[in-house]
Amino acid sequence: MTAADRAPVPADVAPSLVVDFDGYRPGDNQNYHLPYARLHEGGVPDIFWSPYNGGHWILTKRAYLAEVFADPARFTSSEGSSVDPIEPPDRPRLVPIEADPPRQQVFRKLFSPAFIATALKAREAEARALAIELIETLKPRGRCEFVTEFAQHLPIRVFMNMVDLPEEDRETLLPLAAAQVQADAPKAEMLALLFDYAGRRVAERAANPGDDLISRIATAQVEGRPIALHEAIGVTTLLLIGGLDTVASMMGHIMQFLAQHPEHRRQLAADPTLSAAATEEFLRRFALTNSARTVVTDLDFHGVRMRAGQKVMLATPFGALDPNDYPDPLRVDFTRKSNTKTTFGGGPHVCPGSMLARIEIKILLEEWLPRIPEFWLDEADPPRIRTGVNGSVEHLPLMW
Ligand code: HEM
Repeated sequence: MTAADRAPVPADVAPSLVVDFDGYRPGDNQNYHLPYARLHEGGVPDIFWSPYNGGHWILTKRAYLAEVFADPARFTSSEGSSVDPIEPPDRPRLVPIEADPPRQQVFRKLFSPAFIATALKAREAEARALAIELIETLKPRGRCEFVTEFAQHLPIRVFMNMVDLPEEDRETLLPLAAAQVQADAPKAEMLALLFDYAGRRVAERAANPGDDLISRIATAQVEGRPIALHEAIGVTTLLLIGGLDTVASMMGHIMQFLAQHPEHRRQLAADPTLSAAATEEFLRRFALTNSARTVVTDLDFHGVRMRAGQKVMLATPFGALDPNDYPDPLRVDFTRKSNTKTTFGGGPHVCPGSMLARIEIKILLEEWLPRIPEFWLDEADPPRIRTGVNGSVEHLPLMW
């Protein structure tokens, strides 16, 4: 049986709670978020059992997602951060995401200083200069494939500078990181290659440390001792996965939307002061990660009996499109008042890269729209979606 097949439903899960929905393959090949909105409109249960990917719970209310993100005592990350099993079981753990507090906090502290506002000032100037250079190069061509020609450059080059990795490694790393967040990819095999890569870099920096993030991790003290090699590899690999896919995926969703919505494009081009509010609304509307927790002991969660060891998928697109929080949730409205969202998770694991992501998305809006205000999809070559732990636009031809 593959992950895409239906697994037998546990006997004590009520048939009314079973929904034929695969969180890693939601179903629409061109509009990633539509199946989530359709289920909300169809009155899907707040908590349901999906028989796919081995079988697991899915939460659809934003408030429930926030509650589980904030509750590591009942919902642990130590059994993995997706509904897939850890494979092979003895591989290095991706700390801090595959750990609970207090251990999780020990490893998170190794990189969190690099993501605070003062540390990101220099990154912002660098990202803006790079965005301008990329857009000015593309502009005379009248078209581009946005994902490979922009989205996989701006956030990734900024990240590669943070960790002091050479630009030429980008192409090796992208498919390895993408396989970790993509359904039906050879995940374990590609993760082993990422570990090899991270291991080489950690050893190199431990022997000859510089001023970059990997050097800091490779030479860190944790719990009163030098960090172990497998721990340094785990942290570095996690950063590579976190830093290489998410912002590029988010940019793809935003640009697909803007290509299809001239009124939003014109609104932003006419009033650049909207860019911060627009960034927040896009981050709400296009939430794209589906991480997971494991139930620690048998428990009752809002009237649903969950058993120890069962997985709970934290599908943030459901949170983003919860009509209880966001009236008419598919509508993109830059004046929307609610700022509460689960796009970056919440609680101890809340995304450390959220400020960097915000900076880069705001720069995209501020620098693209004045230079290329009118653009549209190529009807002969439609967008393609990639699904899994992250929902991404993997192919987005734009014309202007
Ligand atoms: C729009 C872009 C992004 C989105 C939507 C996003 C989403 C998330 C979410 C939902 C989590 C929590 C997962 C969980 O609790 O299971 C998370 C954690 C994390 N993210 Fe992001 N992320 C983004 C950008 C980034 C960037 C740019 C980086 C690094 C350069 C990054 C690195 C991480 C790391 C290391 C964690 C684990 C933190 C911990 O376990 O304490 N993310 N992200």
